[in-house]
Formats: sequence, C-alpha cells, structure tokens
Amino acid sequence: MVINMKIDKADILSMLRGNDGYVSGQQLCERFEVSRTAVWKVINQLKEEGYQIESVTNKGYKLVETPDVLSKSEITSRLSTKWAGCEVYYLDETGSTNIDAKRYAEEGASHGAVVVADMQNSGRGRRGRMWQSPPGSAIYMTIILKPDFLPDKAAMLTLVMALSVAGAITEATDLRAGIKWPNDIVVNKKKVCGILTEMNVEQDYIQYVVTGVGINVNIAKPEEFPEEIRQTATSLRIEKGELINRAALIERVLCHFEKNYDTFVRTLDLSGLMETYDEYLLNLNSEVKVLDPKGEYTGIARGINEAGELIVEKDDGTVEQVYAGEVSVRGIYGYV
Ligand code: BTN
Repeated sequence: MVINMKIDKADILSMLRGNDGYVSGQQLCERFEVSRTAVWKVINQLKEEGYQIESVTNKGYKLVETPDVLSKSEITSRLSTKWAGCEVYYLDETGSTNIDAKRYAEEGASHGAVVVADMQNSGRGRRGRMWQSPPGSAIYMTIILKPDFLPDKAAMLTLVMALSVAGAITEATDLRAGIKWPNDIVVNKKKVCGILTEMNVEQDYIQYVVTGVGINVNIAKPEEFPEEIRQTATSLRIEKGELINRAALIERVLCHFEKNYDTFVRTLDLSGLMETYDEYLLNLNSEVKVLDPKGEYTGIARGINEAGELIVEKDDGTVEQVYAGEVSVRGIYGYV
C-alpha cells in the first residue's frame, strides 16, 4: 500500500538536480512515499512551467533544461545552506521586498528567511531614491536577520552582503565583479547591484535587520535602463552576452552570505573578511574624491579597516578613515 505523503515541486527538482542521469519513477515514489500518479502530476506541472524533463521508459526522468523562472520551489530546491534561506517567501509582484521583509519579521519570520520577488512597484534605493524593478529580468531579494549584537554593528552587514554578492557573481558568471566602496557591485565600471540595509531598534536592541539586494541580471540592452542611469548601470547579461539563471545566482548569494556572516559574528567586525573585501575593492590604491559635507578632498584609497571604513591617504600625507554613512566616494574620472 502507498501512503500518500505530500510531494511538491521542490522535492522532485532537488532529486532530479542531485542526479546526473535518470531518476526512475520507482525511486521517486519510494523516496517520497507517494504513488506514481502523484509523481507524474508534479512532473507535468513542472513541464507546464517550462522545465524540460525527458521521460524514457524503463529509465525514468531527467532534467534537461531549467527555465529562468523564479518560484519558491525553484529557489528552495537549490539551497543547501544551514540557515540562510531557511524560509523563502516568493512573490510574483510586490511593492518592495524590504517592506515585505519587515512585515514578515514582525510576524515572526526566522533569522535567515528571505523574500524574493519577480518585480517591484516601489523598489527603494539608498538616499530615498527609487530602484527600477521591471519583471522577469532581475533579482529583488531581502534577507531577514535577527542578530544578537548592538545596533552600531549593523552597518557592516551591508559590506558583508556586498562581498557575498561579488563572490556569487564571479562564481556564477565568470565575470570580474568588483566592489565600489562601500556596497555597489560593479562590472566593467558599471553598477550591476545595489544593497539597502534597514533595521528596527527598540530600547537599544535590534529587533531585526533586513538587507535588500537588487541585481540587474538579464536586462537585455542599455536602452532598457532609465536615461539618468544609462551611463553608470549595466546588467550581467549585457556584460556576459548570455542569459544568467536567477535562481542559481540567488543560491550562490545565500551560500556566500551565510559563510561571510558567520565569520563576521565571530568577531563582530570585518577583521576576518577585510582581506578578501580589499581584493574585490575597485578603489584600492586608486585616487578617490571624498564628498564630505564638511569639505571635499582627494586621496588614495588604501582599503577598509575592521569597521568597514575606507582608509584614504590624503594628498598632504594625513590619513582619514571614511565612514560610509556620512559621505560618498567617487573615482577621479567618473563613477568608479
Ligand atoms: C541602492 O540604491 O544602491 C540600493 C538598491 C537596493 C535595491 C533592493 S531591490 C530589493 C530590495 N527591495 C527594495 O525596495 N530595495 C532593495
């Protein structure tokens, strides 16, 4: 007798992915204790969503091609992290995943839960700017964190995420991704990703932090970017010349973030990450202009310190530690 346990698309996808060859219907039935009809129904649902699954008599099923779709099953079936992505909230359309994440955090979402959307109507950028969020071509994701440290440490999480995204992009695409301090991810001198961290503090304790990541993944041509950012923005597809699977990239980001976050909380500073961060830092040993409200100055960027501040050697030989909240930094000849 077959006891009908629940089987979902993520179960089948992870089993098909975990196997180079064919997975037999029998194996799937036994693994999930469901009938062949239940397996067949889920396989058909996946095919309808665009997955190319080959079915061969006496051999079974094989995943031949995955479409670039975002869904809860597509994301969860790829994850092998311990806590990053422990809950996935997927929305086809939303206002802002940062706003959703704050609500889920209030409602009891766990540390590490992520909110992912295919499009945002009111995507938020830093300094009150908006973040253009068209459907089907980008990643909009926010991770919910419920850390046990004091609020003054939280700003460093943005740098931890920047390092994670740079690592993930490099690994998933082979493109040379770099960081423009503190947290823009840049490919070929143009921005591909922005990060926005927000937190809720009560009585000096962090209730939760949300770190939102927007990555321009499959935007096809520069003309699709709004006029005002066309000179400084690009997408991974434009730079690589091919489509990039968004769910696979989300998985890489979460995997890198989990590892980097665990390193960060051991010391509650960036001492364990700054060497790698500096390897990605595009401003390293280059001339920068520091747009300090108290007065602009130029100097050579020498990397970050344990607190994530940019060390700038000024032209007069003195050294400044630049804190990201107060100022922004530009390259002498343009954005980077
Ligand atoms: C920046 O201005 O560079 C930061 C942009 C951050 C955009 C992301 S997209 C996902 C998350 N939801 C938002 O509304 N904003 C962040």
